[in-house]
Amino acid sequence: MARVFSGIQPSGELHIGNYLGAVQNWVRLQTQHDCLFSIVDLHAITQPYDAATLASLTLDMAVSLYAVGLDPEQCIVFVQSHVAEHTDLNWLLTSVTPLGELERQTQFKDKAQRQESVPAGLLAYPILQAADVLLYKASLVPVGEDQVQHLELMREIARRWNARHGTGYFPEPQPLLTKTRRVLGLDGKAKMSKSLGNTIGLFESPEAIWEKLRPAATDPARKTRKDPGTPEICNIFTVHEGFSPPDTVTEVAHNCRTAGWGCLDCKRVLADNMIATLAPMRERANALRREPATVLERLRAGAGRARALARKTMAEVRDRMGFLKAGED
Ligand code: AMP
Ligand code: TRP
Repeated sequence: MARVFSGIQPSGELHIGNYLGAVQNWVRLQTQHDCLFSIVDLHAITQPYDAATLASLTLDMAVSLYAVGLDPEQCIVFVQSHVAEHTDLNWLLTSVTPLGELERQTQFKDKAQRQESVPAGLLAYPILQAADVLLYKASLVPVGEDQVQHLELMREIARRWNARHGTGYFPEPQPLLTKTRRVLGLDGKAKMSKSLGNTIGLFESPEAIWEKLRPAATDPARKTRKDPGTPEICNIFTVHEGFSPPDTVTEVAHNCRTAGWGCLDCKRVLADNMIATLAPMRERANALRREPATVLERLRAGAGRARALARKTMAEVRDRMGFLKAGED
C-alpha cells in the first residue's frame, strides 16, 4: 500500500481554501492508504510568530483535523516537533540540497519580500518539508497547487541522496492535487490565506458565512444582473464545486452562462450547501474543544506511532551515510 504524508501549519482554524485544496482529500485517503498527517509547528517558526499562542494554535489545528473527519483509528495525526527525527533528517538532507534551488522557490521569494530581515529557516523550509515526507518513505503527498514546486525540489533531494547513498532508497514523492487545487480569497485576487485575511473559516456560524459570501468577488464581467458569466473563471463557482452536489453544480453553471440567476442567487444556493456540510463539523469541533485532554492524548499516541517509523528510517540513513554507530548505553 502506498504511503501518504501531508502537513499543515498550525494556523488555528482551517479555512475553506485548505479544506477544499487539501484536507478534504486527506479524509478520503485515510481509508485507502497508509496515511500520516502532521501539524508542522517547526515550519511555523520560519516566519514571525507569537510564542505565547503557538501551543494553543497547534491544539486548535488538531481539533480542526479531527472535526473534519481524520480518524486516529485510520491514520496517524501528530505534531511535527513531537518527533525529533524530523529535524535530525533535515540536517542530513542539507548536504544534498542545492542552494540555487532553494533560492528559486516562489514561496521563499514571496515571503522573503514581506520581511525586513530574512531568517535562514525561511530558505531552508523546503528541506524540512522534504525530511517530513522522506522520513516515512511516503510516495504520495496530497497538497494544494502552491506546494507543487516544493515537491519538485523534494524529488531532487531524494534523487541526489539516492545517487550518493543508496539507489532507490527514498521514493520520489508525487503531489496529489484535488479538483479544487486553488481557492482564491473573498476579494478574488490572491489565494485564500489566513495571513491575507481573506478567508472563510470552516467553523464559522451560518450568519458569518453568509455575511462573507454575500459581497465576495465573482466573474468581473457580470457587472449587472443581466450580464452572462463564465463559471470557469469565477471563484464562487470553484467553491460550489467543492460543496454542492454535481447536479447543482451543472445547474449553477447553466444559470450563470445564461444569466438565469444573478450572482446573489448563486451565492444563496452555495451558502445553504456550505452550511449543511459544515454544521456537523462545527459541532464536533465545539465538542472537542471542551476536551483538550482527549485531543492531547490522541496526539501523544499519534507521535508514538510516527516515531517508531521515523527511528527505523534514521538508523538506516545514518548507516548508509557512514556515521560511526554509538555504542549501547
Ligand atoms: P497551509 O495552511 O499553508 O499550511 O496549507 C495547508 C494545505 O492547504 C496545503 O496543502 C496547501 O496547498 C493547501 N491550501 C492552502 N491554501 C489554499 C488555497 N487557497 N487553495 C487551495 N489549497 C490551499
Ligand atoms: N509547506 C506546506 C504548506 O505550507 C506544509 C508542509 C510541511 C507539508 N511539510 C509538509 C505539506 C510535507 C506536505 C508534506 O502547506
